[in-house]
Amino acid sequence: MNGRIIVTGATGSMGAAAVEYLAAEGRPVLMACRNLAKAGAVRADILSRVPEADLEIRQLDLASLSSVRAFAQAIEPGSVVALFNNAGVISKGYHPSEDGFENTFAVNYFGPWLLTRLLLTKLPTDARIVNMVSLTCGFVSLRESMLEPRERDFSQLGTYARAKRALLSFSLELARRYPDLRVNLADPGIVASDMIDLGHWYDPLADVLFKPLCKTPKAGVQPALRALAAAEGNRYYVGKKCREIPRRYIDPALDARIWAATEQLISVSA
Ligand SMILES: NC(=O)c1ccc[n+]([C@@H]2O[C@H](COP(=O)([O-])OP(=O)(O)OC[C@H]3O[C@@H](n4cnc5c(N)ncnc54)[C@H](OP(=O)(O)O)[C@@H]3O)[C@@H](O)[C@H]2O)c1
Repeated sequence: MNGRIIVTGATGSMGAAAVEYLAAEGRPVLMACRNLAKAGAVRADILSRVPEADLEIRQLDLASLSSVRAFAQAIEPGSVVALFNNAGVISKGYHPSEDGFENTFAVNYFGPWLLTRLLLTKLPTDARIVNMVSLTCGFVSLRESMLEPRERDFSQLGTYARAKRALLSFSLELARRYPDLRVNLADPGIVASDMIDLGHWYDPLADVLFKPLCKTPKAGVQPALRALAAAEGNRYYVGKKCREIPRRYIDPALDARIWAATEQLISVSA
């Protein structure tokens, strides 16, 4: 695999771990990050252990569709071979993005949706695309109206789960529409990262009692790394396993409706 691998959220726990693993394998990586100073520090840290690493940093705020468009526009056709949609967030309250979407949906779904669609013309037809989902997808259902939760429908984990479920739906529909692409899903399990600090009073207690039981970011990112190296698409990587897509997620009619509803909200060509 020559050409760069885009890793979004490369400043995060699993994003940085992924970049370091890929760099150690000699893969050139494009770190797509919203905070350039933080990205520079992560890059310097990785270079201290992997001096030959080929790491480029570019700015990308997934909560901003104009930032996504600018990032995609600047990608030179043929320069990138894979996209790892790793960035994610669990917003602590209801916050609209600059485009008017609820922030958790903006970062976990609309941003990666538009980024992926815009990059399709720049990526090889058999590019690898890995989308980071979550076991929480299995706890929720999804309808078109849920893409834009109202403030009174917001819940920290419920909204996050539906945003990840929408990303999962997008992945399956993408694979149907572009069968040469290798689109895979990665589920890291529960990982001790900043993300699982939900802003509750008992977070410090959870740090002591719960986090030690969670996976490390290095362990959590392994399914995604295997997905990024996969020869085939349409698989669900979780733990040490590479599974068929779980049956509870197979609903082509739903996926087509979610795709169409998203296209109504976001123009790919604008
Ligand atoms: N931790 C878990 O237990 C768990 C479980 C299942 C799935 N996941 C998924 O795994 C992925 C990585 O999570 P993690 O645990 O490594 O979380 P993390 O350490 O909090 O990292 C999240 C990354 O996303 C980036 N990000 C947040 N908002 C962004 C935005 N608007 N634009 C661009 N980047 C943005 C963050 O950038 P900043 O550094 O600028 O904040 C950071 O690099 C996420 O998709 C998450 O949903 C995590």
